Formats: sequence, C-alpha cells, structure tokens
Amino acid sequence: MRGYKFFTFVASVLILGALQVGATETENKTGEFVATKDWQVIAEGQAIPKGLHVRINLQTGLKEAKLLDESERGTALQSQQEGQAADENEPLSLDYKPDIIEESLRRVKEKKKSYAELRKAYKEFQKNFRTDGELIVQLIDQYRNFSKTPLESELRSKLDSLENLEYLLHQIDNALLFIDNGGLDDVLLPIVVNDTNTALRISAMRVLGSLASNNPKAQIKVFEKNFGSHLAQILSSSGNAGEISAALHAFGALLRKFPLAQQRILSTSGTQALIKVLQSPDVELRSKSKVVTLISDLVQEKRFVLETSKDAPDAASTMAQYVLLEFQPWLQTHGYCPALDNVLAKDYLHLLEQPEIVEQFATALETTEDLCSASWSQSSGLRHALLTVRNRYANSQDEYRLEVSQVLSKLCERLFNKPKHTELQTIDPNCSG
Ligand SMILES: *[C@@H]1O[C@H](CO)[C@@H](O)[C@H](O)[C@H]1NC(C)=O
Ligand SMILES: *[C@@H]1O[C@H](CO)[C@@H](O)[C@H](O)[C@H]1NC(C)=O
Ligand SMILES: *[C@@H]1O[C@H](CO)[C@@H](O)[C@H](O)[C@H]1NC(C)=O
Repeated sequence: MRGYKFFTFVASVLILGALQVGATETENKTGEFVATKDWQVIAEGQAIPKGLHVRINLQTGLKEAKLLDESERGTALQSQQEGQAADENEPLSLDYKPDIIEESLRRVKEKKKSYAELRKAYKEFQKNFRTDGELIVQLIDQYRNFSKTPLESELRSKLDSLENLEYLLHQIDNALLFIDNGGLDDVLLPIVVNDTNTALRISAMRVLGSLASNNPKAQIKVFEKNFGSHLAQILSSSGNAGEISAALHAFGALLRKFPLAQQRILSTSGTQALIKVLQSPDVELRSKSKVVTLISDLVQEKRFVLETSKDAPDAASTMAQYVLLEFQPWLQTHGYCPALDNVLAKDYLHLLEQPEIVEQFATALETTEDLCSASWSQSSGLRHALLTVRNRYANSQDEYRLEVSQVLSKLCERLFNKPKHTELQTIDPNCSG
C-alpha cells in the first residue's frame, strides 16, 4: 500500500506542474491580467483589476479569475463589500444596499437571541458539570448498583459504562483515581474472572489495557490484584479473536517495562498461555501475529535495557531485575520454536495477501533467531513457507511488499544458506536475494 500511495502522489504533482506550464503560455507577458468571460489562472503576485469573479480551483489549487456574468452579481457584491473595492461609478452596490441593511439588522437581532440562549445553556452546563473524577466515581457507583446476578436488561448500560471508562482511564490521574476508589475490585475483577458474557469481558479487558498502558503505578496495582494469571487463563482457553486481542492488549500493558511482573507472570502460566495461542488451530493468524509481536517486544526490551544501562551505575537495580528474567529459556521450554515454525509452515498461504502480518512474523523471527535457529534451519516446512512468500512479494509492484521480501531474503539467507548447507545454494540460487 505504501508504494501505491507514493506513486499516486507523484502523479498528481506532475499533473499540477503540467497545468501550470499550460497556464503560463496564455498569460499576458506584460504582467497585467486581462480578464475574459472564461476562467484564467492568475499568476503568483499578479495584480488583477477590481470587480472580477475570483475563485480557487480546487483541483489545481490555483487562483483563477474572469469577468462577471449577469447572474453572478450578487456574489460579486459581497466580495466588494468585504474588500471595499466597489467603484464610485459602479451602480451595483446602490441597487443592493437595502437588502444588505435588512440582512445586517436581522443578524444583530439573531445574535441577541442566541446570546440569551447561550447564557441559559451555560447555566445548565454548570449545573450538570462533572469533572472526570466525579464521573469516574459515579460510574463505579453505578456499577456497584447493578444486580449481582447477570441481567440481560443491564447489559447495554454495563457496556456503555465500560466504554466511558476505557476513554477516561487513558489519563494517568484518572486511572489512579479509579483504582483508589475500588474500581479494580468492584468493576473489573468480577467481570474478568467470573462473567460469562464475552462482550463484557472484552470491554473490561480494554479498560484494563487502557488504565495500565504507560502507567507504572497502575501497572503495580493491576499486578497486585493478580490480573496477570486471570489474563493468562483467558488466553489459554479462548478461541474468540476479539477476546484474545483484548486480553493480549491488557497483558502487554501490564507487562511492558515492568520486569518484576514479567518475572512472576511469565515464569508461571504466562509464557505457556502465549504459546498456547500460537498452537491453537482455532485462533486466526492475526491474533497469532499479535502474540509473536508481544513476545518479540519483551525479548527486545530486556536486550535494550542490558545494552543501554551497562555504563549507568544508577540503573544497576533495574538491570539486576532484567538479568534475572529468563524469558528466552521459558519460551524454549514451552515449545516456542516449533510452535512458530508450525504456524508459518501450515498457514503461509494466508500470508500471501497480508504483508503487515508477514512483517510482524518476520520481526519476531529475527528477534528470537538466536534462540531457535538450530531448529528452524532444519525445518523444510518453514523454509518452503518463507521462500514462497518471499518469491511472491519479490515479484510484486508494491513497494511495501518488496521491502518485506527483502527482510525475508536476509532471514532465509541466515537460516538456510549457512556454509554447511551448500546443497541448498544449488537448489535455491535465489535465496541470497
Ligand atoms: C497585455 O496587456 C496590455 C495592457 O492591458 C494590453 O495592451 C495588451 O494588448 C495585452 N497583450 C495580450 C497579448 O493580451
Ligand atoms: C445506587 O443506588 C442507590 C440506592 O438505590 C441510589 O441512591 C444511587 O443514586 C445509585 N447510584 C447510581 C450511580 O446509580
Ligand atoms: C468469582 O466467583 C466465585 C464463585 O462464586 C467467588 O467465590 C469469587 O469471589 C468471584 N470472584 C470475583 C473476583 O468476583
């Protein structure tokens, strides 16, 4: 898609250029604009006589002018009034003056009326005004008022409340206020843990993702309430794409830049839950690509911290937490390498039309290459999948697909064209791209 947009853009610039050249040829060389009954382009900075009809051509972005038609005098009058450009001997303005005075009077009256209305509306607004904080407390109270047994009649208002919360709790202060007022215990936890309605669980996990994103204090509270293992439970058991996506979003928001939570959650059920999503035959590729993206991000996060805090003594404790984190070994223990290999080997035909997803998988393959290259380099299924997608994209006109095909070429070369596999080079001379 990117490449396509790029070419469209160039094309429109070229057309614009051609029009400008065309316009210059018919221009009066002395620099003065000579108006006719037809639209003509006004050159940059060129002076034009008064009383013409002027417009901006929306297709070219150029200013154009022509002489007025009889039917257009009304419009012209308006621009003359605004620009004080009417000639003394121009009869038009006199003809139309009564109308203008009437019109102005009408508008003044209208303004007075709307001012009174405005005051009234403002008073109303003040009366009903709630700060975000008041609104959040009210939403929590409303939630406490819902009956304990699930009622179909309450579902719509529950979903609406959650949607409002998702919006409000992006703000760090709002999220903390929600937590301080018992929102995790009274609103989110009962839904995520016990509710049988999938739509409600999805909404609640969206709220959770919203409040924990980039909010370290909220992340700690969410972690303390043990949401990590509840989310892992949902990931392991759900076959619903929307639910998996919402759970992954919340899971990622809880784990990112929080090595203690990563340590506790990923060393127990967390890693297993992620890999289970990859292994499930019922889960669609898009959800699987979100899983590998989260895995890849967490692996990179540790690498990045270890690299950047090497020479920073004040980062010692952060670094220590990441050093203890053994996410890669847990991935290996729970079968990440063969799981990813299988996803691609089985589903690669679906990847042919989804370059964004291929890119996500390619990034994950690169990030975890050192962990898995021993098994991946022996996998003929993976090799066939990657080369098929690579070859398809390499023959595309689309710049983005071409980019992705180059990433795949390099990956294939590293995985399958190692010197010890010389026979592969003769079978597939294209792998070096
Ligand atoms: C250019 O404008 C001048 C001044 O209005 C006029 O005398 C002349 O005839 C115009 N030339 C053309 C080619 O339109
Ligand atoms: C909750 O219920 C109580 C008692 O019925 C009521 O006074 C209160 O206004 C309700 N709160 C909300 C937010 O609906
Ligand atoms: C979930 O349901 C069980 C059984 O009814 C209950 O004991 C537990 O407290 C509930 N958990 C939450 C978080 O509501």
